[in-house]
Amino acid sequence: MYDIVEFGELASTNNYVKENSKVLKDKTIIVATRQTNGRGRFDRQWISEEGGLYFTIFLKPEKTDFLINLTQLMSVAVCRALNMFEVNAYIKWPNDVLVRGEKICGILSEAVITNDKIEGLALGAGINVSQKNLDNINAPAVSLKTLGVNAEKKDLLNKILFEFFKFYDCVIQKGFIAIREEYINLFPAFGSFVKVGAGEHAAGIIKDIDAAGRLVLQDGKGIIRTVLTGEII
Ligand code: BTN
Repeated sequence: MYDIVEFGELASTNNYVKENSKVLKDKTIIVATRQTNGRGRFDRQWISEEGGLYFTIFLKPEKTDFLINLTQLMSVAVCRALNMFEVNAYIKWPNDVLVRGEKICGILSEAVITNDKIEGLALGAGINVSQKNLDNINAPAVSLKTLGVNAEKKDLLNKILFEFFKFYDCVIQKGFIAIREEYINLFPAFGSFVKVGAGEHAAGIIKDIDAAGRLVLQDGKGIIRTVLTGEII
């Protein structure tokens, strides 16, 4: 169903996919033990020392209308896999995965574009598994190891891929609505006041995640605002 290709060291698994998209088959998974130029959302660095799980799935579905929702599917798949290790992982909109308020997984999706045409998606995830040191990450972070969980990276990856591909075809056809219920079950922040930045800027109480996966906020004046891009800060 899918091929996994493993490397010791890469600059970035997302870069590898984008640079080799012509020769990669749909649903190829590129894994690296460490990355020398791991990249996060909004041009941030993703420190990628040995011990973390770093991978990118190359996807080139015929229907590309709902590519944007695959990051949210990945966050659902990662949470479901982590929860199998008795870890209470949940989503911070749109696609960060947290445990006890600290980040355990980040997801970066990038369109693969050839001759001005979207050829597919490089959907990358970095998960803190057993890195020796998380102190050099400049945001609250947690790993499975610091939570007392000894997980095999291969086992974790297989669980994530199983959960991801279970819903994949349905999301490609129908979009976020196909996983809205699963997403909402993993999203505990309804009713809390949040600020959104690093994309659109907004603030308000979380009222809903709509059928397209957008965050629905109500501001102090009662005005409803729907947010498509950015992140809760
Ligand atoms: C974020 O939260 O900012 C997203 C982090 C994404 C990191 C992963 S690690 C595998 C893949 N390769 C990269 O260079 N980045 C993603």
